[in-house]
Amino acid sequence: MQFTEPEDTIYDPFSGAGTVALEAWIAGRHVFVGDLSPYAYVLSKAKMNPPKNLEDAERRLDIYWQEATDERRMIDLRKIPRWVRTFFHPETLRDTLAIRNVMLRHHQYLLLMRVESGDDPKPAIWEEFRSIITESDEEFSDFEFIERAAFYERVEKAYAVVATSEKTLYANIILKKGVI
Ligand SMILES: C[S@@+](CC[C@H](N)C(=O)[O-])C[C@H]1O[C@@H](n2cnc3c(N)ncnc32)[C@H](O)[C@@H]1O
Repeated sequence: MQFTEPEDTIYDPFSGAGTVALEAWIAGRHVFVGDLSPYAYVLSKAKMNPPKNLEDAERRLDIYWQEATDERRMIDLRKIPRWVRTFFHPETLRDTLAIRNVMLRHHQYLLLMRVESGDDPKPAIWEEFRSIITESDEEFSDFEFIERAAFYERVEKAYAVVATSEKTLYANIILKKGVI
């Protein structure tokens, strides 16, 4: 922090657990980070997207915990690879998977096709989508991005497909059932 002032921009291309990102943000710097590792990406993203305040965090925790209580009855640990099971007490693993499923349902109900190299990495239409979504869901954190082939596989299994005359690239969007 001794080398920068508030409002300066910090870039950490090896963000790891996101400590630099978080500390810089708290100190009033603008922050850009990246990392090769998907695990580092998840940790950094979580640190940069905290709940708005303590009440909001408690409210969300209550909702997730309530839903996870129902969800945990549906978890079949026999479907979890043995090597994963050896790391956890069965009840801990069941709780963790239940919470994970609930959080995924809450936050990733919109799937977009990941950009292929050579195309605009941040299509403008996604920002339009984002502003429409955040108007009605202030908890919305991000889209889920999947590879082109996986995207089309999901489309084949979709309950319904709405085709329009929209020609913008990467405007395809999958809505997961049961959450809107
Ligand atoms: C020690 S951590 C960085 C700690 C981080 N600066 C912090 O504030 O917590 C090093 C990170 O560099 C990432 N890394 C290593 N080689 C990389 C590369 N070529 N491109 C992007 N990230 C890389 C690793 O995935 C790891 O997460």
